[in-house]
Amino acid sequence: MALVSLKQLVTDASRRQYAVGSFNVVNMDTLKAILEAAEENASPVILSVAEAHFGFINLEEFSPIILRAAEKAKVPVAVHLDHGQSFPALVKALRNGFTSVMFDGSILPLEENIARTKEITRMAHAIDVSVEAELGHVTGGEGDSSPGVADPSLFTDPEEAKRFVAETKVDALAVAVGSVHGIYKGTPELDIPRLAKIRDLAGVPLVLHGGSGLSDDDFQQAITHGIAKINVYTDMSQAAMAKIRTVNTLPETLGFPEFMSLVHEAIKEAVTKKMQIFGSVGKAR
Ligand code: 13P
Repeated sequence: MALVSLKQLVTDASRRQYAVGSFNVVNMDTLKAILEAAEENASPVILSVAEAHFGFINLEEFSPIILRAAEKAKVPVAVHLDHGQSFPALVKALRNGFTSVMFDGSILPLEENIARTKEITRMAHAIDVSVEAELGHVTGGEGDSSPGVADPSLFTDPEEAKRFVAETKVDALAVAVGSVHGIYKGTPELDIPRLAKIRDLAGVPLVLHGGSGLSDDDFQQAITHGIAKINVYTDMSQAAMAKIRTVNTLPETLGFPEFMSLVHEAIKEAVTKKMQIFGSVGKAR
């Protein structure tokens, strides 16, 4: 199976009405847990490295490990740069063999977002790398621990989405329709009619960021109306932290790697749950 492009994964997900999970890799434990969950569930998967996590994960040193693991996997795997905001980060991901990059110009004025996304798409497509971009703005940072609410004034405009995709030629579009990164304050409410309109006008598979804390019904609705990729990080991080907090209840003789394998199992369980909800289980058979 092995290393594939993001475009291949989201095209299949759109066609068969499921979403492929994009999970953030921050170290060896997350990498192994995500891939094991994918293989055990015969699920395609996206391994994402966020620019915000470059402090934990040195791209030059870690990329060969991620790519090798992806190539050896029994399921299709895309290796993706998540929220690339700086030009050097994007170039680094391309140079290190990633099969897709996200350029996040969502806080830029529309014209600048289009111009910069176009520049990245031209470069990436020349070497068969897929591009995701964001229009509208999903609030909250990567792994943000302060509860957030979505800001409707930043939601994606369907007409702008049509123009954005036509001009930039992106392979997938991340949209702001009510999700936030990190923990939700109150109950999130997705703007499904807006999502359906964007799907009809944009004509590319859509991406939902902030996949932690939404209900099963939210996911079903989102997938039915055009979402083909869902990003998840906070739920994995919280599952790991919950396990870490139990350390004092465990035998003192337990060694470090043995303990970390318990943490790894907790992450794997969180990833598996998402794959089940997203309908990607069995899609790699
Ligand atoms: P959560 O941390 O809310 O799951 O969002 C992850 C994300 O969107 C990464 O791009």
